[in-house]
Amino acid sequence: MTATAAVTIDGPAGAGKTTVGRQLAAALGRPLLDTGLLYRALAVIARRRGVGPQDRDAAAHLARTLAITVATEAHPAPGAALVRVDGEDITWALWDEDQAERLSGLAALPAVRAALLEPQRRLGEGAVVVGRDAGSVVFPDAPCKLYLDASPEVRAARRAAELRGRDAATDPARVGRGVQVRDRLDRSRALAPLAVPAGAHVIATDGLTVGEVLAAALAACRAHGLGG
Ligand code: DC
Repeated sequence: MTATAAVTIDGPAGAGKTTVGRQLAAALGRPLLDTGLLYRALAVIARRRGVGPQDRDAAAHLARTLAITVATEAHPAPGAALVRVDGEDITWALWDEDQAERLSGLAALPAVRAALLEPQRRLGEGAVVVGRDAGSVVFPDAPCKLYLDASPEVRAARRAAELRGRDAATDPARVGRGVQVRDRLDRSRALAPLAVPAGAHVIATDGLTVGEVLAAALAACRAHGLGG
């Protein structure tokens, strides 16, 4: 039998997928897989080794051979290692928006996406899975699919607030530019572009609190027999 996620949550950067995904996973008593962490981990190591999206073979080799482990607890302890690569904790380096182009460029490479399918399916089985193509490509048989959306302004503001929580010196303008660059590249790539999966519940989150988005997500899950 192929692996199946319980719930997939797709949507653009800063739509609130991870925040809502974490709470939804806790409410459903499921693990959480944030698939962006795998792509971010790859980009961190690629940068260190001087590998860019134009170095297709080297990038694919990295994606196939790096031992990336990702924490899947819905509520990891504050400061806990979320991601290790070959045993090294690289969590601190994951959210550098200066990496937007390298990140989206690597994520657009078919061989990189193919290499990251297996770890996503392994780690995401039975979980709440957050991503860009979680409901369309990685877990097309997931019983409940969500798609969170928000306007570009709201998404840039949310991402900046999230990053400021980690690093007070975060510049909101730089974050906004990074989110825009990734949006453009993620939507226009040839393979698995960001799109609403067939059968997904779309939640427009502008003006909604996290609690309200969570309530809408839980209602969708219940409609599919998940969450009591
Ligand atoms: O969700 P995020 O912002 O952490 O994702 C980082 C980048 O990784 C994003 O710009 C696109 C890519 N990504 C992807 O292509 N497919 C996924 N399932 C998750 C992320």
